[in-house]
Amino acid sequence: MVRQHVNPLSSFHQLPRCLPPPAELFATAELPLHLDIGCARGRFLLALAQQDPTRNHLGVEIRRPLVDAAETERLAAGLTNLRFLFCNATINLQDWLQALPPGRLALVTIQFPDPWFKQKHRKRQVLQPPLLAAIAAALAPGRELFLQSDVLGAIEPMVALVEASGGFERPTGDARPWRAANPLALPTERETYVQSQGLPVYRVLYRRNHAPPPIPLGVR
Ligand SMILES: C[S@@+](CC[C@H](N)C(=O)[O-])C[C@H]1O[C@@H](n2cnc3c(N)ncnc32)[C@H](O)[C@@H]1O
Repeated sequence: MVRQHVNPLSSFHQLPRCLPPPAELFATAELPLHLDIGCARGRFLLALAQQDPTRNHLGVEIRRPLVDAAETERLAAGLTNLRFLFCNATINLQDWLQALPPGRLALVTIQFPDPWFKQKHRKRQVLQPPLLAAIAAALAPGRELFLQSDVLGAIEPMVALVEASGGFERPTGDARPWRAANPLALPTERETYVQSQGLPVYRVLYRRNHAPPPIPLGVR
């Protein structure tokens, strides 16, 4: 059985994990890289990687059985521009992002992240200041960060964090507060479900600007 939610603050999920660099993940490591944070069972990336062979796609997920199932399917499909890794993105991605070759990271997506409604659980939200700072440092100017959710309480704190960082701008002409359309070629599993229910989806596309990456609170 796969647990619906895990507590990313548990001691097990706080352990350091060394994630392999792109050269050990992809057949052509030099391709622009798309990082999807919280990819779940990976069906969105399995379809996207076949449709878009011009990029490498990395899905990271905190529920290991989902990663194992996604990797099994990837291997069966023979996809060499796609990998899935088990990790706690909030904790384990920072060193990996820092070690990326300059300009390699093209796009980061955080789609329908788990909502944590209680104030005391806010530290469980995947996008925390140190992760945002690492994303901003790894994204070259013009490269993109895409956020979407059906839960305002999940996306509004992420938007507040990104906007306070000063490191990102929305494309000219995008509707505010929410972008009308998904800029990606395919919907995620959660997105397909939400849309089948006729529920709203809140989306924001950000482009990295030329400002230096933010320094997370507590590190200053
Ligand atoms: C609601 S699901 C959305 C899945 C997929 N992005 C979609 O849109 O269909 C959120 C996923 O993020 C994963 N997740 C939550 N916290 C995480 C973390 N700290 N690191 C990695 N994955 C995380 C959850 O296990 C879950 O699979």
